[in-house]
Amino acid sequence: MEDTTAVVEITNVSKSYRRDHHALQVLHDITFRIASGEFLALMGPSGSGKSTLLNLIAGIDKPDSGVIQVAGVDIASLSETELAGWRATHVGFIFQFYNLIPVLTAMENVELPLNLMGLSGKERREHSEMALKVVNLIDRKDHYPGQLSGGEQQRVAIARAVVTDPTILVADEPTGDLDRNSADDVLNLMEYLNRQFGKTIIIAIWKKVSSAMLFLKLLFRNTFRHKLRTGLTILGIAIAILAFGMLRTMITAWYAGVEASSAGRLVTRNAISLIFPLPLNYKDKIRQVSGVSIVSFGNWFGGIYIDEKNFFANFAVEPKSYLELYPEFILPNAESDAFLRDRKGFIAGRKLAEKYGWKIGSTVTLKGTIYPGNWEGYYLSGELGLCPARHLSGKG
Ligand SMILES: Nc1ncnc2c1ncn2[C@@H]1O[C@H](COP(=O)(O)OP(=O)(O)O)[C@@H](O)[C@H]1O
Ligand SMILES: [Mg+2]
Repeated sequence: MEDTTAVVEITNVSKSYRRDHHALQVLHDITFRIASGEFLALMGPSGSGKSTLLNLIAGIDKPDSGVIQVAGVDIASLSETELAGWRATHVGFIFQFYNLIPVLTAMENVELPLNLMGLSGKERREHSEMALKVVNLIDRKDHYPGQLSGGEQQRVAIARAVVTDPTILVADEPTGDLDRNSADDVLNLMEYLNRQFGKTIIIAIWKKVSSAMLFLKLLFRNTFRHKLRTGLTILGIAIAILAFGMLRTMITAWYAGVEASSAGRLVTRNAISLIFPLPLNYKDKIRQVSGVSIVSFGNWFGGIYIDEKNFFANFAVEPKSYLELYPEFILPNAESDAFLRDRKGFIAGRKLAEKYGWKIGSTVTLKGTIYPGNWEGYYLSGELGLCPARHLSGKG
């Protein structure tokens, strides 16, 4: 029999963004339900609000008005900390650009969300292997993302999303960066998860149908639904302890400069893990907090220099505000001008440049893992100086 319990209930939800004193209304008084085991596709052209809606359902962003209930919980009633735990248990998110961590193997990537749960190492391995079997990549478990094709990386990302047996799977244009065949593989896999495991799936697909968004219920044969449901079951949540050494390196890089410099500088990231970026509009929210004078952001980039073994943290940043926020990055004027003018310049510490023999103006190519492609840049020096955090004095 069809299970028709509503898993997601959206009631009179509105959401707008503020832009240059204008409010841009993206979602206007939306009401709908998603039943357990449903496969729902949001289709609409770019800008129609698909990501906005998915982010609201996943508790990544909040609506201006209205109520969003997932598995009976009003998400707005949760604190940020509760929300992080809630999301880890209930939502598996699949991104367009996979967002795998390049320095972790497929298996370690899949295991990552389980660090938020109170599981033993053995249980974590069993769950991860199971998830990799489901996406048919168990024989690639020790491969790094850079050694996998786009379609395979997305399947690893799907394994990572289902490994906690979340209540809902949310996928934001999961095939947007894939060729036709790999896209079919990924959609077939999601259909399989829906059909075999009864997973409730909400997927956003770019489609030029009209200017509005369409809710399309994809119906699949239900014959086997629920039979194999038992496989992925998770017990409770504990506080995350990130055990991987490499992750430590990333986190250290992320917080670099906090210790060294200004007491007025606050570094923040998503409570779940580095692979979940904060929504860009948090920048404006943070900017509005009284006492905040500069806001900048860096996005974990995960580029590989020639070989996986050459690990160093690299971030894509917003040049101007980043230099303002990190005055201890000392650049000659001509070079900081070039950095601001041209999106291809990069700054590296002196030690790193010496290690790889980079000279000012050298072209360096990073192989993208999170953002596929070869990313070329030229070296603009940079030195960590002990310059006082002059931009940040005062308020704090
Ligand atoms: N943080 C934001 N600030 C301002 N406008 C935004 C923000 N996020 C999205 N928008 C705007 O809201 C509209 C819907 O965006 P989005 O939900 O990303 O659409 P889609 O995923 O369908 O392409 C777009 O016009 C977009 O430019
Ligand atoms: Mg989108």
